[in-house]
Amino acid sequence: MPAPPIDARALTGEALSVTRSGDDGVILKLRVDEQLPPRRAARFFMLKRDDRMSPEIPRPFSLYRQKGNELEFLIKVMGAGTQALAACTRGTKLKIVGPLGNGWPTLDGAGAPWVMLGGGIGSAPFYMAIEQALAGMDGAPPAKREQLFYLYGAAKRGFLYDLDAFERLGVPTFTCTMDGSHGSKGHVLQLLEHLQARGVVPPKVRLLACGPEKMLEAVERFAHERHLECWLSLETLMGCGVGICNGCPVPTVVEGPHGAWPNMKCCVEGPVFSTADVTLCGMQHA
Ligand SMILES: Cc1cc2nc3c(=O)[nH]c(=O)nc-3n(C[C@H](O)[C@H](O)[C@H](O)COP(=O)(O)OP(=O)(O)OC[C@H]3O[C@@H](n4cnc5c(N)ncnc54)[C@H](O)[C@@H]3O)c2cc1C
Ligand code: FES
Repeated sequence: MPAPPIDARALTGEALSVTRSGDDGVILKLRVDEQLPPRRAARFFMLKRDDRMSPEIPRPFSLYRQKGNELEFLIKVMGAGTQALAACTRGTKLKIVGPLGNGWPTLDGAGAPWVMLGGGIGSAPFYMAIEQALAGMDGAPPAKREQLFYLYGAAKRGFLYDLDAFERLGVPTFTCTMDGSHGSKGHVLQLLEHLQARGVVPPKVRLLACGPEKMLEAVERFAHERHLECWLSLETLMGCGVGICNGCPVPTVVEGPHGAWPNMKCCVEGPVFSTADVTLCGMQHA
């Protein structure tokens, strides 16, 4: 039975700042009350306030940035949970569980370039991914800047969160919006095809994607048709975040390594999955 990671803890902490980002987002910076070693990008924490302003069930958020025990989260304000977090002021006490989940695979500089596809708030797990790839991970050779591409799409300019910070990381970054208000007009796969047709991005790449489910379904199909390695970071609804409630099933590929078992648990076996293992669009890989 999959279990939560051994480094997960129930922590307390307090808000340091809440900064607006884009039309409906915030960056919540908080300090946890114990030291945390650096964590892999795309791992997540369950967050809630400790003053009854949050719903009883904490909400999951990808780690956006980390400096020791100071953690930042990039949050799109949706319902009661995110509204309560966005309304924190300096000193608001928080309950924090994590780090949870697996994180991105090791982003090495040894193989095909990595293309990161972010959709809207799905950019959150990519900031540290780029930092960690450039620094080198797990003893693997670091990626060079030209081996990393960040393609960031959203419905409109106001949903491209903290774009300047991504651009400052210095890897090739391209944007697109459905209404054409920033970057090229259209979605991230159109942008990727366009860049490949122009020779900016090679045909053989490794894909990482995080964003709305429809986008991830399209990325899965794109990767399958072109025989590309691909990992998706999923943002399923979650209850417990630690493998108990069965609230986060992800369908497995019948022909894949987990095929006999129809679902994996996003919280403890993800949130990052290879498209060789799971399918969002019901594809069965030959
Ligand atoms: C592993 C993981 C990492 C995540 N990382 C981030 C992050 O870095 N930043 C961020 O802003 N959000 C992230 N999310 C999504 C975030 O957890 C939800 O937006 C949040 O739980 C909504 O809580 P709420 O109380 O504000 O909204 P609710 O009142 O619970 O819901 C408001 C509306 O949002 C919808 N909704 C709720 N959760 C999701 C979801 N996961 N996907 C799509 N729609 C949803 C509901 O159906 C409802 O329509 C992540 C989710 C997961 C599982
Ligand atoms: S959220 Fe409870 S099992 Fe995954």
